[in-house]
Formats: sequence, structure tokens, C-alpha cells
Amino acid sequence: MNVPAAARDFLAAMERRYACKLYDGARLSPEIEAYILECGRLSPSSFGLEPWTFIANHPGGPVREAMFEACFAQDAVKTAGLVVAILVRRAASYDPDSAFVLERAERFPGGHPVFRADYIGYWQFLKDEGRLEEWARAQTYIAAANMMTGAAFAGVDSCAIEGYKEESILSALDADPSSWRVGLVAVFGRKAEERREKIRTSASALIQYRD
Ligand SMILES: Cc1cc2nc3c(=O)[nH]c(=O)nc-3n(C[C@H](O)[C@H](O)[C@H](O)COP(=O)(O)O)c2cc1C
Repeated sequence: MNVPAAARDFLAAMERRYACKLYDGARLSPEIEAYILECGRLSPSSFGLEPWTFIANHPGGPVREAMFEACFAQDAVKTAGLVVAILVRRAASYDPDSAFVLERAERFPGGHPVFRADYIGYWQFLKDEGRLEEWARAQTYIAAANMMTGAAFAGVDSCAIEGYKEESILSALDADPSSWRVGLVAVFGRKAEERREKIRTSASALIQYRD
């Protein structure tokens, strides 16, 4: 592929990443952990609202045990060096005049008045369609993808985990279910299994151009 060298490195990381289901149980270094979380933090979000919070967890404690149970006892959750639950705010937070929107909006040029004028129509549309939480939750997948690809770039294995009981994750993390939902869980670490090859449909079957 005739693309810049950095783009080839990126594709190689995409190729290397696979859904790792068993880890060696060791923690990642604090620097690598911070790097993975930074990949999440820098991810784009709709209107720049950053509707999420990232809860990072190490192995060996009661929170990990509760998360393991909440994830239907998946080995990946037990053995990962780092588990990140991406929690996302519930619908009420996105009200144009909520304390949350006010705080986020004030960071942008023109502050809340300018932000509100731009945002309110789309918020009303999502609210009328009953899609506010779907909209917010979908964004957490972008953060998770960036963290997983970023991890692969650094030679760290990972897996997205959607097999969980939401109330049990929130309870394990002491998060108020009236304020938070689970967006996605992602696990990171060093693999303790054979890497599986990618199975992907061909580009010609998946991609069409309609100019
Ligand atoms: C949103 C999402 C949720 C997933 N949830 C789980 C899960 O709960 N447990 C699991 O073992 N794998 C899970 N996976 C991993 C997928 O099964 C895996 O990514 C897919 O089979 C493709 O394989 P690859 O990632 O190795 O290329 C999930 C992947 C995604 C994208």
C-alpha cells in the first residue's frame, strides 16, 4: 500500500490487535496504563461533551472479582492487567441547561450561550426520538477502539467486553445507576494464549463507492 510509513505502522497495529481472551495477570507499567487511558481521553465526542468517565481497575482486589462475576466469569476479565469500564452519563445530563452541559460548554469560545444555541436543536431531536442514551453510549465505542488500537501500537493486547450485567458492573464500581450507564468494558494486558488470526470479509465485498 503506497501510504506514509506512519500509516503503515498504524495498519500493522490494526492487524496485530486481536480479541485476547486470556492474559498473564500482570499489571501494565503506569506509563503504559496512562498512555492507554490518554488514547481514550483524547477521543472525539459529539459536541465535544465528553459524556464519559473511565474507571480503571487492577487485578487482585474485590472490585475485579465483582467485575469478573458481572461479566459472566470471562477469563479475560479475571486475568487482564487493566480493566477499563467506560461509564456514560444518563439522559438528564444532556439537558441544554444541566450543570454538566454548563460546565462542558463554558470551555468553548463564547461559553454556554453560544454552545446552547448550536446544541439545542440536535438535543431536542435526539430527545424526541428517545435516542439520547443511545447517542451517548455509541460514543464510548470510539474511545474503546482508540484505546485498543493504541494498546496494540504499544504491543499490548486487549479485548472489548460487552458481555456484562449492567447493574452488577455499576454496583461493583459504586456508580449510581440513576446517573450512569455502562458504555463498554475493555480489558488490556499481555496475552497468555496463542494469538488468533483475523477473519475478515474482503474489502471488495464490504466497500462500495457511490459517487
Ligand atoms: C463491542 C464489542 C463487544 C465485544 N464483547 C466481547 C465479549 O464480551 N467477550 C469476548 O470474548 N469478546 C468480545 N468481543 C470481541 C469480538 O468477539 C472480536 O473482536 C471479534 O470476534 C473479531 O475478532 P478480532 O477482534 O480478534 O479481530 C467484543 C467485540 C466488540 C467490538
